[in-house]
Amino acid sequence: MKKEDYIRLCQEVWEHNRLYYVENAPVISDYAFDQLLKQLEKIEAEHSDWIIPSSPTQRIGESVVHGFKTVSHTTPMLSLANTYSKEELLAFIKRCHKILETEEVPFAAELKMDGTAISILYEEGKFSRAVTRGDGKQGDDVTSNARVIQNLPLEIQKAGSFEVRGEVYMPHKIFQQLNQAREEAGLEPLANPRNAAAGALKLLNPRASAARGLQIAFYGIDEGSTGELRGQEEALAFLEQLGLPTVAEHTLCLNFEAIWAFCEQVRHQRSLLNYDIDGVVVKVNAFSSWRQMGSTAKSPRWACAYKFAPEQAITKLKSITIQVGRTGVLTPVAELEPTELAGSTISRATLHNAEEIARKDIRPGDTVIIEKGGDVIPKVTSVCLDQRPLGTKIWQMPYQCPSCHTPVEHKEGEVAIRCPNHLCPAQRHRTLLHFVSKGAMNIDHLGTKVIAALLDNDLVKRPSDLYALAAEDFAKLPGFKERAISNALTAIAASRQVPLERFLMALGIPHVGAGTAEALALRFGSIETIMNLEQEEFMNVEGVGEKVAMSLFHYFQTAAHRDEIERLLRVGVHPSVKEVKEIKDHPFSGKIFVLTGTLTQLTREEAICLIKERGGKVSGSVSRNTDYVVAGEAAGSKLDKARQLNIDILSESDFTQLL
Ligand code: IVH
Repeated sequence: MKKEDYIRLCQEVWEHNRLYYVENAPVISDYAFDQLLKQLEKIEAEHSDWIIPSSPTQRIGESVVHGFKTVSHTTPMLSLANTYSKEELLAFIKRCHKILETEEVPFAAELKMDGTAISILYEEGKFSRAVTRGDGKQGDDVTSNARVIQNLPLEIQKAGSFEVRGEVYMPHKIFQQLNQAREEAGLEPLANPRNAAAGALKLLNPRASAARGLQIAFYGIDEGSTGELRGQEEALAFLEQLGLPTVAEHTLCLNFEAIWAFCEQVRHQRSLLNYDIDGVVVKVNAFSSWRQMGSTAKSPRWACAYKFAPEQAITKLKSITIQVGRTGVLTPVAELEPTELAGSTISRATLHNAEEIARKDIRPGDTVIIEKGGDVIPKVTSVCLDQRPLGTKIWQMPYQCPSCHTPVEHKEGEVAIRCPNHLCPAQRHRTLLHFVSKGAMNIDHLGTKVIAALLDNDLVKRPSDLYALAAEDFAKLPGFKERAISNALTAIAASRQVPLERFLMALGIPHVGAGTAEALALRFGSIETIMNLEQEEFMNVEGVGEKVAMSLFHYFQTAAHRDEIERLLRVGVHPSVKEVKEIKDHPFSGKIFVLTGTLTQLTREEAICLIKERGGKVSGSVSRNTDYVVAGEAAGSKLDKARQLNIDILSESDFTQLL
């Protein structure tokens, strides 16, 4: 062993660490990663003089990553007392009345975001530091990671030191994409968006794509920064004025009835949010009362959380079926006696993988408890063992693919079990469904049943076969009449003209999401160029790391894939890049636009394109930096905010005239 080998191993571990945390696309299992780390430790034990300060052993520990500077909080970041019932919440309100010696106490009620707490410091209007809650007294300095939080303004109009507190969270969609990528790579899915957000904040190597998709919602101002503000609602309004994102729902309540009504409203709307919340936070509104009431060592006396219990239902597990994914991964699915849960009827739930089923000893025939937190997917949480009927059998993953009967494969160190047969009908079905899906070729009228029928009747095998279908073929499918036939044929024909990025998505290249597809399309402009690139050329694209580049390169090197692309081009699929013809010296040049409400003359995409052609930029949220807000019909809070901030508001016709 030479020192160079040791340094190379350090770099290798770092790279895997980066792929795992930054790209969310690990190429080796957790187990294999731990083995590499152990090997490194062993070398360092034998050659302590070689150890470099940037060695991963000096910075990686437990399951989370250390290596951040520890920072003491100016004011401790406390936690909240919890209540779980109307009675307990009322008891809290009464306690406040008693301490404050009056029943005239206004309260602020807000969403309780289910993410991870953070303290953000602005110095002279510039984002300067982000610290996690840690143990409440000291936290980790995660400034460089927080910098990439999508909706975090890096500049605000506020002099001096200004410290604000909020919650970093991961929206459901990003969480699902992340877990899908993990499952495809044979890794355990992350338990929930909260863990995923906390993990993403602790990435050691924040590249452009790091922590991508994280969001923040502020819920308070540090005591030292409240200045003249008199209460919580005023503080939130002030944060909003500065352009800082705050908790989406908050309100001032003058009595318990109003507080309870807010809690009920939030409980009902919870499933509509695209992120997790776990309750409502109720705070005495006046800061003077905060000072009067003080805190215990753990939590303030002027606030409490009213937490929603996760919604649960008890039902019977009829059977466990297997779903075969596009890449051949076998996922067990719980087929349930249909039951109501959180406002919808549930008849299926994911069981993730065989290990999870074994750990919980879930057996067909069992009575199970299913749960739906804020997150969208219901889970089987446990088995009611006392209700287990006689004669149930321990469930086992099949040894053969349920679709094509090929023996399944289980790679060492991976959780995933796969069907290795690329011609497997189930994989074909998924491949076709993916091909026609909205983010890909967007072919309407070809749902899962139609695709299944087309496959069953041997009318298609691969995506390119769709373009050879004739009316007579569809006529062979059950229930396909004239109208349905012409709809399907028109939709297929229309899909021939497709933006290059959606064509790339349709190919279903592992680890290539919409962002990468768009970057590739913009950079290279044609599929012919892209399919002949070298691995290094892919890596020159922003946001494409080694893993994605490798995946792209392998995909396009595979003869079957090249054949299919060529077939698609031959049948007239024409992937193209929309040309942005830049219009020089337009008054829109350099201006920042926010679009809100519904436009009637233009689609949103057209409006965005028109702005970009003229050198303008489009942002998602209104802040002091916004130049114009284009307000369509039924514009809401963004319009209000624009008015508050005195930003120029354009109607749709003002906008089209200025073009
Ligand atoms: S106020 C003194 N408001 O809940 C504590 N916290 O369980 C002040 N949280 O660590 C916290 N939404 O991370 C407050 N609207 C909200 C919140 C909120 C989520 C989190 C916060 C805190 C945890 C306590």
